[in-house]
Amino acid sequence: MERVETIAGARSLLGRARSEGLTVGFVPTMGYLHEGHLTLIRKARESCGYVVASIFVNPTQFGPGEDYETYPRDPERDAALAGEAGADVLFCPSVREMYPDGYATYVTVEGMTTKLCGVFRPTHFRGVATVVAKLFNIVDPDLAFFGEKDYQQLLVVRRMAADLNMRVRVVGVPTVREADGLAMSSRNVYLNQSERAAAVVLSRSLEAARRAHAAGERRAAELSGLVRRMIEAEPLARVDYVEIYGLPDLTDIELVDGPALLALAVRFGKTRLIDNTVLP
Ligand code: PAJ
Repeated sequence: MERVETIAGARSLLGRARSEGLTVGFVPTMGYLHEGHLTLIRKARESCGYVVASIFVNPTQFGPGEDYETYPRDPERDAALAGEAGADVLFCPSVREMYPDGYATYVTVEGMTTKLCGVFRPTHFRGVATVVAKLFNIVDPDLAFFGEKDYQQLLVVRRMAADLNMRVRVVGVPTVREADGLAMSSRNVYLNQSERAAAVVLSRSLEAARRAHAAGERRAAELSGLVRRMIEAEPLARVDYVEIYGLPDLTDIELVDGPALLALAVRFGKTRLIDNTVLP
């Protein structure tokens, strides 16, 4: 696996791969890789001749007072893991490389970014859309892989790619979980022992809602209420939101009679965790 830090370096490797006729798969990340990220890289490896992963802790998607400075980093370990999972190139640009002096252009996806996490992180998706658009322009992938763990992000990236006529195909990959059900996340390392034990309530409550839905409950407020009550019974948990929206555009719904996203964000101490499930 080759590691590159400059945009010119990445472009020259990619030019070579493309001239050999290889399909390019891309997995953007912020590093501190875990089994969720590695599953995306393995998926890319299965379906593409050339696999690019990136690690860039993107300052523009963090709000004031969020964890940009303390976001966990381990570049050496990440490089070893990305290589083992099948990446051909690991692109790790600096902040100056991505946002040089005078940088002034941002991508805003309207509508769906003002819901769910967008309410609590009003500039977050602008930062995500901007950096993903830049990375797509640098890598020019045929396929790009995103986790369903960040379902709203997946929808925002799909919308942006369609609206801006990007040729990339955005592929969603199911959430990878710990043995007890907790969705894997780089931020799980922030949890202390009792918070980590309490956090299992997230996947359990989503599972309870899935069962209620399977048993015939269709009222969105009942399903989200059930999840909220289970989480609020956990003393260490503070709910930011538990909501249900219709897919694919996050439309307001009262009844779940088509595909819907049940999504939540919950704080344990200073750590904010998200999880979701798609109701069929
Ligand atoms: P990051 O949180 O590092 O996640 C990188 C990719 O891994 C995202 O597509 C995310 O959905 C996926 N992922 C994370 N945890 C997962 C899990 N448990 N199962 C499956 N996939 C998982 O998301 C970002 O970085 C950034 O916003 C980024 C897209 C790189 C833009 O900066």
